[in-house]
Amino acid sequence: PGSRLAHNPLRALAAGAFRGCPRLRTLKLNQALLLLGEEPLAGALRNLSLRRLELAGNGLRALPGGALPEGLEELDLRNNSLQGLSPEELARLDAAPLGGLQLYLGSNPLRCDCALRPLLGWMRNASWRVPDARSLRCAAPRELSGSPELETASYVFFGIVLALIGVIFLMVLYLNRRGIKRWLNNLREACRDQMEGYHYRYEQDTDPRRASASPSGL
Ligand SMILES: *[C@@H]1O[C@H](CO)[C@@H](O)[C@H](O)[C@H]1NC(C)=O
Ligand SMILES: *[C@@H]1O[C@H](CO)[C@@H](O)[C@H](O)[C@H]1NC(C)=O
Ligand SMILES: *[C@@H]1O[C@H](CO)[C@@H](O)[C@H](O)[C@H]1NC(C)=O
Repeated sequence: PGSRLAHNPLRALAAGAFRGCPRLRTLKLNQALLLLGEEPLAGALRNLSLRRLELAGNGLRALPGGALPEGLEELDLRNNSLQGLSPEELARLDAAPLGGLQLYLGSNPLRCDCALRPLLGWMRNASWRVPDARSLRCAAPRELSGSPELETASYVFFGIVLALIGVIFLMVLYLNRRGIKRWLNNLREACRDQMEGYHYRYEQDTDPRRASASPSGL
């Protein structure tokens, strides 16, 4: 016994909508709940003894925890908007009524940062709980997702090399500051000599009298 309401955007779902089908075991609500929230779903599923519930493609951002009937065995959450599962959600899955539940999580925009750690640990501990774990992909952060990975990595590498070169340059400057000071002094001396030479010559050229009077009078 199963029911298929998939691909019908439902506008309403009454509490007890499935009361007439107590033997319902599989319910397919893929791409059907986009216009609804979690609450009507919880009302409609109350008292049912479903084994399999399909909620793929519904834009869900969190586990529909309150809506899940006790004893559910399979929950299809593929192609939703889950970025991960929180420790609270995992705890709810570990509690007795849902302790045997398998989750399908493929095609969700998982955010692979520290917040994903509890979920990863949970999946590692009991790999049977997420049968499609191998198909999970990171949607964020950007450097971990898809093909831009390599490009970003090479830019980062390039940046690090540039920064290193800059640091080494600054270090050389710093360690060699005495030498540089000496070099600057020498340069200044040389310039002054040159300028004085010009000055001298200039004076010599324009004022031959003074030049003849004292060649060292600078
Ligand atoms: C669920 O079952 C209880 C009794 O087992 C009943 O009182 C309640 O009205 C039912 N809820 C729905 C939504 O069918
Ligand atoms: C995923 O879900 C969206 C609606 O949220 C739907 O438009 C799309 O066709 C679904 N993709 C697949 C591959 O089922
Ligand atoms: C791992 O799973 C077992 C049961 O399968 C449970 O008792 C234990 O607490 C879990 N450990 C963690 C770290 O989740």
